Amino acid sequence: MKISVIGTGYVGLVTGTCLAETGNEVLCVDIDEKKVARMRQGEVPIYEPHLDVLFDRNIEAGRLNFTTSLEEGLTHGDIIFLALPTPEDEDGSADLSYVLNVSEEIGKKIKEYKVIVDKSTVPVGTAEKVQAVIAKNASCEFDVVSNPEFLREGFAVDDFLKPERIVIGSSSERATTLMKKLYNPFVRSGNPILIMDEKSAELTKYAANSFLATKITFMNEIANYCEKVGADVDKVRVGMGTDSRIGKRFLFPGIGYGGSCFPKDVKALQKAGKDENYDFKILDAVIEINDTQKTALIPKITTHFKADLSGKKIAIWGLAFKPETDDIREAPSIYMMNALLEKGAELTVFDPEAMPNIKEKFGDTLTYATSMYEATKGADALVICTEWSIFRTPNYSKLKELLVHPVIFDGRNLYNTEDMKSEGFTYVSIGRKD
Ligand code: UGA
Repeated sequence: MKISVIGTGYVGLVTGTCLAETGNEVLCVDIDEKKVARMRQGEVPIYEPHLDVLFDRNIEAGRLNFTTSLEEGLTHGDIIFLALPTPEDEDGSADLSYVLNVSEEIGKKIKEYKVIVDKSTVPVGTAEKVQAVIAKNASCEFDVVSNPEFLREGFAVDDFLKPERIVIGSSSERATTLMKKLYNPFVRSGNPILIMDEKSAELTKYAANSFLATKITFMNEIANYCEKVGADVDKVRVGMGTDSRIGKRFLFPGIGYGGSCFPKDVKALQKAGKDENYDFKILDAVIEINDTQKTALIPKITTHFKADLSGKKIAIWGLAFKPETDDIREAPSIYMMNALLEKGAELTVFDPEAMPNIKEKFGDTLTYATSMYEATKGADALVICTEWSIFRTPNYSKLKELLVHPVIFDGRNLYNTEDMKSEGFTYVSIGRKD
């Protein structure tokens, strides 16, 4: 099939590349000329495990191409994916201007039947708006479907190739048939393609992300309460998670959720509710709790150092909002570091992938180490913000030699508290006895 993908951000790029992998002819469109030139040379503009291999393979096979011409994109694809940014507006709602501007162009330029697919996370009712904007100028038949993505950064290729489910909001049989044909190769295992109306599909995405954010936040509250009563959240987590109605995943407490999706989507659903005079009280609480949780280690650090952090040297491990990505959007590390800097601490930081992004944001207010151990040299304490695998089994003797004091504040509960005690560390984590 001939596919066009408008927008080569993280979602567009993964979608385009994975659709080329199953033999489709994919043309990706982006207005950024430099980016398009780099991609044509085979350079993947984001860090996403395994994407580079698929990218090279499909460019070489001639199935994955790039252009800056929207017109070319709109002529090429029988199915046109809109993978455009929907940034957070000042009031928390999703800004649809990119999606609607491109829709306007689609209406003017398409000359034969096309399926337009909303892949971006968009509020309920967007498919209807896109339909209306295109219909203003369109001289041929077309259908608009909603097809939200459920890709996790760091696992996006795997999630795309082996999805647990595919959600398609469509009221046209013609479009549904084409979409099923496109996605059938990805659900050979028997996982479902769920067909529903457009609004339900749009809401499914917001509801799923908001539920997961709520699940994490609930565990963060249980963790905070564990600290009050002397219970161990790791044990509670396993005790709860083995109930299949609850499930083991997304129950890990820590210094809050971040990234480009959960914070934005929870706020957008909260705002969308308000617009309908519906008050999502649970989301109000989730947002408030998560904001506080991002700096949950700060009171523990100030208590340890008896309030004054001026001149204290602190090493930070992990800056990305989660492992396996260089993405620092809404990363809890940023809130932690700002709070520590405000209190006068001197920070030396390390992350396997996110250093360039953090450097751009923090400039010379931080010291940048070239390895995890270098960051700890001469530090009064180590603070862990992201659970990268390489931090999981450090050389404890080396760490003790490098740190001035063997003190670790762990925002992701990487280590066993008993092990840390026997290794001689002062170890403070989330929801567990120190
Ligand atoms: C999330 C969803 O998981 C995807 O299904 C969705 O498609 C995507 O948003 C999106 O809307 O595009 P992502 O933001 O990449 O994916 O990251 P997650 O792995 O979901 O983690 C989000 C945040 O929750 C991270 O900050 C992570 O550290 C935190 N988290 C996750 C916890 O604090 N505890 C957990 O148990 C799990």
